Amino acid sequence: MLLELARSRRVLFVGGKGGVGKTTVAAATALAMANEGRRVLLVSTDPAHNLGHLWGCEVGARVRRLAPNLDGLELDPEQTARAHLDEVGAALRRLMPEHLAGEVDKHMALSRDTPGMHEAALLERIAELVGGLDGGLDGGPDRDEGQGGHDLLVFDTAPSGHTARLMALPEMMSAWVDGMLHRQARSRHFGELLRGLGRDDSVGAQVLGKHPSGSAGEDAGDSRDDRIRGLLNRRRHRFEHLREVVGDRARTAFVIVLTAERLPVLETIELEAQLRRSKVAVGGLVVNKRSPTDAGDFLAGRARLEQAYIDELRAALPGLPLLQLPLLAGEPVGREALEAFAAGLA
Ligand SMILES: Nc1ncnc2c1ncn2[C@@H]1O[C@H](COP(=O)(O)OP(=O)(O)OP(=O)(O)O)[C@@H](O)[C@H]1O
Ligand SMILES: [Mg+2]
Repeated sequence: MLLELARSRRVLFVGGKGGVGKTTVAAATALAMANEGRRVLLVSTDPAHNLGHLWGCEVGARVRRLAPNLDGLELDPEQTARAHLDEVGAALRRLMPEHLAGEVDKHMALSRDTPGMHEAALLERIAELVGGLDGGLDGGPDRDEGQGGHDLLVFDTAPSGHTARLMALPEMMSAWVDGMLHRQARSRHFGELLRGLGRDDSVGAQVLGKHPSGSAGEDAGDSRDDRIRGLLNRRRHRFEHLREVVGDRARTAFVIVLTAERLPVLETIELEAQLRRSKVAVGGLVVNKRSPTDAGDFLAGRARLEQAYIDELRAALPGLPLLQLPLLAGEPVGREALEAFAAGLA
């Protein structure tokens, strides 16, 4: 079910509660697709990364080859947010009159710790990567900015709550940009508008982002307004593109991994509802670490308990494809083990 899902998609998100097997399932799927000839980028958005552990090598903020056709990347939210804010600060300083530079710095310093900043910075990177996907995606607005060369992105995401919030963001960011453009139409200059940004307007700082065109020192007034309008439009385009791709079930699938226990089942039901509200379709459920029925009474008892939870899950989310994977005696670590693991994902 999972490989079938991945074969026809361009973007795959793997989410679920902590410790259920998200990284393992994401890595095995990515490897299987790479072995089939897709050019795959496996991206971890989890602050506590473990791609490196799985592949026996350091994976970091730079794309690194893990296997033929398969690259890996770990997005560090802390570092991504810092880099993002530095760029936003530089953009704002260039766009604002010089005497407001101090205000901009204060605004950026406060933004650093606002809720949602890490997610926004991560989203920025995700939008870049999705925009940079190769071919078939009819060229996003940021084609030249992603890593390029990949035709499938597999995101190994952080535990549920974090990811659900992340998925709700593109909508919020687009709405903010729209509001800003709308207000500008009624205001004389963007400069005046930006000066009025509340200190707690972290979305504002997040949305303004980076890459304004034009050089520093250009005059206030119309030309600056044009540049700000260009910047906002560009960012609106980027988030709209992300929303379009992520919301398109033909191109994107979200897979929830869980174990057949009470809390993971409840979290799965909740996550599916949150994703639905964000217009992200769940493509399937993977119930990992199923206990064997033929390895003694103890495990057979657990297997029965698990079955009851699976029945509950099916009743709550009818119609969703559900794949079950056995609990293994050893840990699926390394390429060979992941290939064997992937055999069960068909
Ligand atoms: N089917 C399985 N049988 C046995 N061990 C498994 C199985 N699937 C995963 N594991 C092991 O369970 C542990 C957790 O798996 P994994 O790291 O993939 O989970 P995760 O959901 O990514 O966790 P986190 O939320 O911490 O990122 C790992 O040690 C992994 O090797
Ligand atoms: Mg993980």
